[in-house]
Amino acid sequence: MCGIVGYTGPREAYPIVLKGLKRLEYRGYDSSGVALLNHGLKVYKKKGKVAELEESLIGADVKANIGIGHTRWATHGEPSDRNAHPHESASGRLAMIHNGIIENYALIKKELENKGYSFKSDTDTEVLLNFIDDIQQHNDCSLEEAVRVALKRVVGAYCILLIDKEDPHTIIAARKGSPLVIGIGKGEHFLASDASPIIEYTKEVVYVNDYELAIVRPDELILKNLGNEKITPYVTKLDMELAAIEKGGYDHFMIKEIFEQPKTIYDCLRGRLDVAKGTITMAGVENYMEQLKNAHRIIIIACGTSWHAGLVAEYIIEELCRIPVEVEYASEFRYRNPVVNKGDVIIAISQSGETADTLVAIEKAKEQGAIIFGVVNAVGSSIARASHTGAYTHSGPEIGVASTKAFTGQLAVLTMIALKIAHNKGTISEERYLQLLQDLHDVPEKVDAILKNAEEVKAIADKYKDSTDALFLGRGYNFPVALEGALKLKEISYIHAEGYPAAEMKHGPIALVTETLPVIFVATKDSYHEKVVSNMQEIKARKGRVISIITEGDELSTSLSNDVFAVPPADEIVAPMLSVIPLQLLSYYVGIAKGYDVDKPRNLAKSVTVE
Ligand code: M6R
Repeated sequence: MCGIVGYTGPREAYPIVLKGLKRLEYRGYDSSGVALLNHGLKVYKKKGKVAELEESLIGADVKANIGIGHTRWATHGEPSDRNAHPHESASGRLAMIHNGIIENYALIKKELENKGYSFKSDTDTEVLLNFIDDIQQHNDCSLEEAVRVALKRVVGAYCILLIDKEDPHTIIAARKGSPLVIGIGKGEHFLASDASPIIEYTKEVVYVNDYELAIVRPDELILKNLGNEKITPYVTKLDMELAAIEKGGYDHFMIKEIFEQPKTIYDCLRGRLDVAKGTITMAGVENYMEQLKNAHRIIIIACGTSWHAGLVAEYIIEELCRIPVEVEYASEFRYRNPVVNKGDVIIAISQSGETADTLVAIEKAKEQGAIIFGVVNAVGSSIARASHTGAYTHSGPEIGVASTKAFTGQLAVLTMIALKIAHNKGTISEERYLQLLQDLHDVPEKVDAILKNAEEVKAIADKYKDSTDALFLGRGYNFPVALEGALKLKEISYIHAEGYPAAEMKHGPIALVTETLPVIFVATKDSYHEKVVSNMQEIKARKGRVISIITEGDELSTSLSNDVFAVPPADEIVAPMLSVIPLQLLSYYVGIAKGYDVDKPRNLAKSVTVE
């Protein structure tokens, strides 16, 4: 959460920083601000989205060749101008931006207050900044040294960028737990939370690791650890095009990303799945095949939509590989005392690869000897690097806060992993294996066919947009899809929605059914279908409004439903990649009909780097 940008070099810093903030706005949009150095320090900040900051700065003096900027997802202190970053030190010399949480800030704040400091904001960032300034003043040391000393006392997560008006070309940066990428240009450097603000200027980047500190000047990048030892920066080439992070003619990133799915799923399968040869090529699985196929247990850890993908994977892996699977919320796993034995494999699923809870859960499992297999979208991200092995989803940058194409990419990767293990282990017949390869291969085309009927979902959305609640029901492979449909509707349309296993409904939620409650059944034809149809009858008998996602040609479900949306027939193992699409569209169209900002829903952020 929170996006940070920095620039030092010969160009005008403000336009670069501002554009970078717009690209990173998905990480938080409670407030934004910039600090620029040009014969003195200028700090401008504003509550609200980056566009509001931009408007407030029309005509302001923003001339500078060095600058830092921040877009905030509030943790300490309400969203306000006062709590917006950058913060200035009490001496007026330093400005700092921060992504993360300083857990022991209250103690440090008390110490500083005892020394006579007072604070203008409620943030942990201002405390850390003055702590650094105080160390520098009292020890007569360099800023770099003061940062190092301060960070050794800090408990929590941070990525910080600092500028000093006495040193008008240098940005000091450091990270632990929150991401930082440095782009290397010719006589200039770019800093950001991810590569999207950098890609336009250079493809050469350095991913800074935890406990590293960077001293960044136009023509120099020095990396050190907190022990003041130099580290050789490892330069990698970005495999990303600018077009991937722009809307490309769509009104919103969310709908662009929904419509990209035939291509992103295809990209995920491309080079891996070969139907003619009957093979799946995945080095991350092959290199760890013995550990994977002999795993006593697989524990899947993830959050949000990625956790739903994990639930689908639980059904698939248990069915095909006959390995027991548990799916855990990373935030719960990390704080209890989980039993992880040697021989257990952890699959960590994350779109951003930066989710703090998942990252810490990985570290915890690693300490107990587990093998970590990362299923990650963001290349080079912290979770990808913390994993022993893994597979990228290759969905491309996902910018809409609601996860859509990442989910189907995760399902495609997890299905391939399961098939590969099952085939190697001999727990799947050759015939079924080959059939499932073909089914998987056909998914992009079927998703494309579904998207051609998006207007039908729009009509349903218009009909039900004023509902205050909704119930999503599904069984088996479609139960996690029901959960995902409910999550999408909640976060994008602010309609209270619950997902349930369809059979569980009679144990409580059925009490909610009235003539106005939309009950959305994910009811594609699979081995649970007859049972789901019975559940539909039960809702119908109570005059509930039934909306069903069905398989083409399913007349019985159609007759029981007030509204239906049909998807092409598919094996139940790959069906979630199809049945989720109309639910993504439903939340999008309801959100739009209600006039909401679907790319930046309230209170949310894309990359949840705080616990
Ligand atoms: O980047 P991750 O996949 O680790 O993120 C996990 C969740 O924060 C994420 O899926 C979140 O629930 C989305 N807003 C769902 O649309």
